[in-house]
Amino acid sequence: MDSAPDTRISTSDSLAYWNTIPATVDGMLGGYPQISRVDLKGSANFLAKLRREYPSSSSSSSVAPNRTLLKRGLDCGAGIGRVTAGFLSTVCETIDVVEPVERFASEVKGAKMAGSGQVGNVYVSGLEKWVPEQQYDLIWNQWCLGHLKDRELVEYLRRCKKAVTMDGWIVIKENMSTNRDGEDVFDETDSNVTRTNEKFQRLFKEADVRCLKTELQRGFPKGLYPVRLYALRP
Ligand SMILES: C[S@@+](CC[C@H](N)C(=O)[O-])C[C@H]1O[C@@H](n2cnc3c(N)ncnc32)[C@H](O)[C@@H]1O
Repeated sequence: MDSAPDTRISTSDSLAYWNTIPATVDGMLGGYPQISRVDLKGSANFLAKLRREYPSSSSSSSVAPNRTLLKRGLDCGAGIGRVTAGFLSTVCETIDVVEPVERFASEVKGAKMAGSGQVGNVYVSGLEKWVPEQQYDLIWNQWCLGHLKDRELVEYLRRCKKAVTMDGWIVIKENMSTNRDGEDVFDETDSNVTRTNEKFQRLFKEADVRCLKTELQRGFPKGLYPVRLYALRP
C-alpha cells in the first residue's frame, strides 16, 4: 500500500477546513497575525536581492532595473490577498489571483487596493487544476502548495514554467518539515503536507525547473516551522 504522506491529501477536506476559517489575517496565518509584517518584509528583501543578482535583460529605463515595477504578478493560493495587498502591490503593476475559496477571493476583489485597478483577474480555483492564461513576471506561491499532491505539484510547476516571462520568477515560500526521520508530515486538520527541503528539490528536478536562490525566512517566533523561500526558473 502506498502510504506516502501526500497520498492522504483530500481537496474536499482542505476546502471544508478553509471554509470554516474567518476571512482575516489571523485566519490566514493560523492564529499568528503578528508574523505578517516580518513575513512581507522578508519576501520584499528576497525579491530585491534576486533582482539585484539577476538584473532584467530588457530594462532600458534610467530607473534602477531592480526598482521598476514588474508588469504582471500572480498571487497563488492567495487567501484574502494578504500578500497581494502587503507586498505584491508594491512591486507589480497588476496582480492576478488564484484562490479556491470564493469567500476569500471576494475579499481580494473588494479590498482597498482592488479599487486602485491593480488587481486583475481573480480565478476561483485550486492550483491543481488551474491553467494559466497569461504570462507573468512573478508567480508567488505561499503557504498553499501543501494542499497539492507531489504529482499535482510537479504538473503545476510545469504549467508555471510555460507561464513565466523570460526574466520572470516562480517563487515558493513554504513551511519546512522538521521531522526527525526526514519525512514529509501530513496534517489532517487542514489536509496539508509539510515537505522537507530535499523533497522540494526533488520535485523541482522532476518538473525541470532550476532553483537559483533559496534562503530561510528570519525573525519568526520559535516553535513555528522554519519557512524557506525558493526562486525558480525554467
Ligand atoms: C495559509 S493560507 C495562505 C494564504 C496566503 N497565501 C497568505 O500567505 O496569506 C492557505 C490558502 O491556501 C488556499 N488553498 C487551499 N487549497 C488550495 C489549493 N488546492 N490550491 C490553491 N490554494 C489552496 C486556502 O483556501 C487558503 O487561502
